Amino acid sequence: MAIPRAVSRYRLIFSGAPVYVRAVRPKPGVELRRASPLDVGTMGRVYLNAYRGDEVRDVPPMVLKSLSMCLRVSCGHCVVAEIDSETVGMGCLFPYRGAAWIGGMAVERRWQRRGIGTRIMAKLLEMAENLGISNIGLDATEAGKRLYRKFGFVEVCEVPTYVINRDALPRVRTAIEVLDYVPSNVAAMDRGVMGFDRSQLLNEIVRHGALLVSDGGYAFVWWGRIGPLVANSLDTAIALISRAVELGARRISIPLASPLGRELVKKLNLCEEFRCTRMVQGSIETDYSRLVAIASYAFG
Ligand SMILES: CC(C)(COP(=O)(O)OP(=O)(O)OC[C@H]1O[C@@H](n2cnc3c(N)ncnc32)[C@H](O)[C@@H]1OP(=O)(O)O)[C@@H](O)C(=O)NCCC(=O)NCCS
Repeated sequence: MAIPRAVSRYRLIFSGAPVYVRAVRPKPGVELRRASPLDVGTMGRVYLNAYRGDEVRDVPPMVLKSLSMCLRVSCGHCVVAEIDSETVGMGCLFPYRGAAWIGGMAVERRWQRRGIGTRIMAKLLEMAENLGISNIGLDATEAGKRLYRKFGFVEVCEVPTYVINRDALPRVRTAIEVLDYVPSNVAAMDRGVMGFDRSQLLNEIVRHGALLVSDGGYAFVWWGRIGPLVANSLDTAIALISRAVELGARRISIPLASPLGRELVKKLNLCEEFRCTRMVQGSIETDYSRLVAIASYAFG
């Protein structure tokens, strides 16, 4: 008999029949505080331990870079959870205009299922409320989904990350400009597609890569990934992806609510690596007929 995950941790046997009960662990004394750039190293260790179980001393530079970017984009809205002054958990709120995103939620393995993630979420939502933001999105792992549902987040669609096989890319000829800044028409288009204004994030992303612009859309290329990618046709999307791959990109996260995105997965025979579920609290009117790829799970 399958043990229902929500209920079971221990199996008791009474007169031959198994009874499943939930183990309630004692709640630890947890302090929450805002993270500062000095916390990046410890946050990296917590993050790697939460996701992979790694006990690392030296956090890889890429993880440190990502967390520093989280701190900048969050404008002081990343939180760390401490027990006896030791960091054991983290989470960030990215306040955009008209909505916010939550990312970087992580609790060290040995402290999971003790209510720390719940405390961090409650704090991030309180900060959003204080900023007057009621529409919030996030991309949930399987481990996080139940927690977010408890806070009223509702599933929108699956968002798998794919590795691009460059040999499967068909040739599409389209003029593409490569920019190192975000022109106002791209910022406006992004606002129209996403349903909120995240130009601060786009300006940050372009500092780490480039923006590709064609007649029918645009794509950001940064840290080996493509996104956000907005296109009005399959050919435009493929042309942007081909150029991004020439510039070194290999990964793309496609919301399956996007009809163009689904076509791309088939046409390019994309290989799935990992997936999250996009969830929203309140209302975010994203136009998935044009959004082909997201920026990242952390930033939306
Ligand atoms: C997702 C994550 C952040 C949640 O953190 P957490 O501290 O374990 O979360 P909580 O303890 O508040 O809640 C998780 C579960 O523990 C349960 N729980 C909370 N306090 C408890 C207690 N005292 N005793 C027993 N169970 C408890 C909650 O009810 C919840 O149960 P459910 O999932 O069956 O509904 C953590 O699991 C993690 O870091 N995972 C790996 C990284 C990851 O996937 N991050 C999410 C990215 S979106």
